[in-house]
Amino acid sequence: MSDSDKSIGFTGRLGFILAMAGSAVGLGNLWRFPYLAAEYGGGAFILTYVILAITFGFSLMVAEVCIGRRTGKSCFEAFGSIDKRWRFIGWLAALVPAIIVPYYCVIGGWVTKYFVEYTIGNGDAVNGTFFIGFISSNLPGVFDNPMTWFLVFVALVVIVVLGGIQKGIERVSKILMPALFIMLIGITIFSFTLDGIGEGLEYYLIPHIEDISAKTILAAVGQLFYSMSLAMGITITYGAYMKKDVNVEKSARNVSMIDTGAALLAGLLIVPTVVAVGIPIKSGPTLMFVSLPEVFAAMPAGNFIAAVFFLLVIFAALTSAISLMEALVYVLTEKANMSRYVASAIVTALIVGLGTLSCLGFGPLDHITFLTEEQTFLDFFDFISNNILMPIVAILTCIFIGFVVGTKFITDEVESSGQFKAKKMFEIMIKWVCPIGLALVLATGLMDILGIMKL
Ligand code: PFF
Repeated sequence: MSDSDKSIGFTGRLGFILAMAGSAVGLGNLWRFPYLAAEYGGGAFILTYVILAITFGFSLMVAEVCIGRRTGKSCFEAFGSIDKRWRFIGWLAALVPAIIVPYYCVIGGWVTKYFVEYTIGNGDAVNGTFFIGFISSNLPGVFDNPMTWFLVFVALVVIVVLGGIQKGIERVSKILMPALFIMLIGITIFSFTLDGIGEGLEYYLIPHIEDISAKTILAAVGQLFYSMSLAMGITITYGAYMKKDVNVEKSARNVSMIDTGAALLAGLLIVPTVVAVGIPIKSGPTLMFVSLPEVFAAMPAGNFIAAVFFLLVIFAALTSAISLMEALVYVLTEKANMSRYVASAIVTALIVGLGTLSCLGFGPLDHITFLTEEQTFLDFFDFISNNILMPIVAILTCIFIGFVVGTKFITDEVESSGQFKAKKMFEIMIKWVCPIGLALVLATGLMDILGIMKL
């Protein structure tokens, strides 16, 4: 593995938890989870998500960490070193970061724009209809163009990766992440004072079981993988660096709790506000950017608080984007024998190329849509990675563990460092519930999207 991978080096359980949480908590929690929760029925989505997180997400995380720790290899060699015929799962998984990181940087650019506006005391400028004009590239001036901010964010990521300062960034992010949690709690409590918030809270917190469909489950499953950094090989690589005496079960439980906690909190801040101030509930990827300014505008010292908040979001996004980019640079340096500079240049070109499509897909390229009329480039890339590739990788991983190598391969590894309390649940999940459930959900979700069967 590359030197930068070695920098992950966990000293113990806390080291592993912090590193994994750094990768897991990002835009997925703050930006993606709230808009899905809003779109898929609020409480119904939350309930589905939490049940899946503690059963399925937890089981898959345990499996991935153990594949990595037991083989001591990254996702490319890990599957192949157990059974050559299954090597392809590692490669399929590695495609995921390549699809995600370009559009991740587009959203990172939007966050950076908001940070700058609030920092120069220009919070009023981002209220109301600003965001739609901004992402559709309809505003005059280079600093009101989303491409500018996308490129600024890409530059930040590349500087960190090439400058070899990941360690420094990760160290500060360990302080900034708890700060982000505290700010989220504080701003959420303030948002409860907004007029009409009761109705929003009810929407977010009270599940209506009849709202849960195969589409809701597919969306929740995709979000789970994305948010917990599963089904993309990354957790396997993290597992390879976990010390043998660290308790896998407890670590996986802690990471999934931190990650789910962050998502639920971000949703609690964003979704009820949307209902309270009457923003369309199906605003999709734009939701956070139209909802939060409403809260900050109503707050005393809103400009300052917003600037600090968006700075923390930039850090969360940056640590995640760096680990996504590192995963790709690793493939090219180790598997294609390229130098780090050449590999980084290629990955940057990929990010800029695909990211530009995502960025302009809300403006000059908005006439190009995919499976549905609203599905722009960004939604399409997001859909392919989260709702198709990741479920497929997860199904294959479950079949591989459940029927090719046997669940004992994993449970022995967990038990080598402590008792495995949820062993029975794990075995049933990985062998039966996950692969069958996922295959059903994937098939029905796909048939719905392709118009073969309307749900
Ligand atoms: N889990 C991250 C998020 O929720 O934002 C996304 C991600 C980051 C996935 C880094 C994978 C990864 F390596």
